[in-house]
Amino acid sequence: MTLANAPSLHDKTTRAFLRDAIQGLTSARKSLSPKWLYDSAGSALFEEITGLPEYYPTRTEISILRSHAADLAGYVPKGGALVELGSGASIKTRLLLDAGPHIAAYVPVDISAAFLHATADDLRARYPHLAVHPTVGDFVNPIALPAALHDLPKVGFFPGSTIGNLEPLDATALLARARAWPGIETFILGADLVKDPQVLIDAYDDAAGVTARFITNILMRMNTELGADFDVDRFDYIAEWNAEAAQIEMSLMAKVDHHVSLGGQDIPFAKHERIAVSQSRKYTIGSLGNLANAAGWSVQEVVTDAESNFGVAVLKAQSAG
Ligand code: SAH
Ligand code: AVI
Repeated sequence: MTLANAPSLHDKTTRAFLRDAIQGLTSARKSLSPKWLYDSAGSALFEEITGLPEYYPTRTEISILRSHAADLAGYVPKGGALVELGSGASIKTRLLLDAGPHIAAYVPVDISAAFLHATADDLRARYPHLAVHPTVGDFVNPIALPAALHDLPKVGFFPGSTIGNLEPLDATALLARARAWPGIETFILGADLVKDPQVLIDAYDDAAGVTARFITNILMRMNTELGADFDVDRFDYIAEWNAEAAQIEMSLMAKVDHHVSLGGQDIPFAKHERIAVSQSRKYTIGSLGNLANAAGWSVQEVVTDAESNFGVAVLKAQSAG
């Protein structure tokens, strides 16, 4: 397969995917960015993960948001906008929107374009008074917020502990860029907390194998979108806890020596060689505070569930007092 006959390479996103994939898979330590997990199939698989018995983060964060919905929605001034990063199915958002009929506009930002637009249509039907502005974008880079909302007061919302999927420097840079959005004073950040490693391993290596399919989907995506020829049966999914970095590390391990073709490149895999696909960093109240402070935010409060499994932090812009 050459670049010229791979499918859809005229598309900007696909070209960026190919560039990233080649760079990551030709490095000494092979890796892929987790942002490429989310095509429509990947977004649907993630939604399936959220309902798994082992995957406690979603139901735990929902329980926190449900008990504090009125307070959290109250941070959005009347007529203001809620800007959500990595909005996915916007299920958690609905708790805030239900508790905040004064919220005038909602900006879901996501890289998974088709899923984002389908979710936005659903929200418009549910909340006819709400101006919904779906924004396709990569939050590792600056996001172009809708110009029409420039003058509205805004609250950032980044639930799900998706912040934990970013490299630490990218996480700080993202929060620092959000700090510079016009009209922002408050940012609501969901973060999964450090806990018993076995609970974490189970959450990221579920018995039904849904997480394995979610992570392996990135290989299938390279086959369909980039014209690669990965044989998914030649890889095993592995989830490990790295205590020093406080993160779950998800990788795909080659079962045998073999070669893969991608964008005209021959990529050799040795038996047991891995592709690092995603990390999921877990925080303490202290490490969350350090992250916020480094990006120009102060932690006003962190609400957790009774077992302190998950935290929802309210951050205030440092110069806003
Ligand atoms: N907020 C939802 C979904 C979390 S899943 C929840 O809490 O359940 C992570 C979401 O972030 C997915 O919808 C995925 O498409 C999106 N995403 C991942 N990396 C991204 C990136 N770099 N830029 C924008 N969106 C991204
Ligand atoms: C989206 N993100 C917060 C999930 C997580 O828990 O790190 C992604 C995920 N990867 C495997 N399972 C879930």
